Amino acid sequence: MARVLSCIQPTGDVHLGNYLGALRNWVAGQHENDAFHGIVDLHALTVIDQPGVVGKSTIELAAMLFAVGLDPDIATIFVQSHVTEHSQLGWIMECQVSFGELGRMTQFKDKSAKREADFLSAGLFTYPALMAADILLYDTDEVPVGEDQRQHLEITRDIAMRFNHRFGETFVIPKAVMPKAGARVMDLQDPTSKMSKTGDTDAGLISMLDDPAAIVKKFKRAVTDGDSEVRFDRATKPGVSNLLEILAACTGETPEALAAKYTQYGPLKADTGEAVVELLRPIQARYHELMADRAELQSLLRKGAQKARVVAAVTLARAQTHLGLVPA
Ligand code: TYM
Repeated sequence: MARVLSCIQPTGDVHLGNYLGALRNWVAGQHENDAFHGIVDLHALTVIDQPGVVGKSTIELAAMLFAVGLDPDIATIFVQSHVTEHSQLGWIMECQVSFGELGRMTQFKDKSAKREADFLSAGLFTYPALMAADILLYDTDEVPVGEDQRQHLEITRDIAMRFNHRFGETFVIPKAVMPKAGARVMDLQDPTSKMSKTGDTDAGLISMLDDPAAIVKKFKRAVTDGDSEVRFDRATKPGVSNLLEILAACTGETPEALAAKYTQYGPLKADTGEAVVELLRPIQARYHELMADRAELQSLLRKGAQKARVVAAVTLARAQTHLGLVPA
């Protein structure tokens, strides 16, 4: 059975890109693999400067993970800061990656450009080292992620191979797994940028908690393309192709087959909106039930952290031994 790990940051609402690109595949994967999923609150600290914000988002995200169908009795669902091995191995990883490699990360370049006038934390720069620790701590074989995380996976592999070469076989070399449909959900107002919590407009983002009327309206107003032909072509028709991909991810059909069914944008927008409303309806209901019992959520997270620590502690100790640190 393959060991599978993937994580998500508690920064604002979970959106449709997270769901179609990641969470949905985690749910399917938990029955086939030994699955670990982290709510990576330490990563969220890279862009936070107020107390309490991360904690609130962490609980909300936990409720969402259980609402989409992750089962705490099957998969290991934990909060990153509850498993202190992440910070410990994170530092070791920082010492195995170069300044130049980190500077080439597209996500860092994008995020730092967007925060140009703001405080730019060193953590935002060294983030991929902590992400490498998240993955390597669990002897992970596969990491299901959206397309946007591919570069981070590559640097994780590079770091792991470098460590193994320098200090002896220590880490399993993980590989990225991308979903067939939904790997790259784009902003509805700017279909050349990925849908993201840090996007410019709320109109371009479908939150998992948006009400049905808001979802239908956002799809109705989605930016399409100059001509009026419905065709699947990401390069020349990014807006329409994004709608077709979202509809495909909801229905299980291919975007090409769906394109053949439409001659106008209006009905495509309406059907995609409806399909997303129906996809999210049961998830939203379950989310609200779960949020009504915080104590239960916290207890589930404590159990998850205990299970995670059992694995993480062994790997950290192995890395420390291979480095030749003096045992405590
Ligand atoms: P995060 O929190 O931004 O996103 C969580 C997951 O959602 C996917 N995703 C998308 N997929 C398709 N279309 C989109 N528009 C879209 N936006 C986000 C992401 O690919 C991801 O799978 N650095 C990571 C968190 C992380 C992590 C890890 C992931 C930390 N440690 C270890 C895997 C393994 C991040 O910021 O994801």
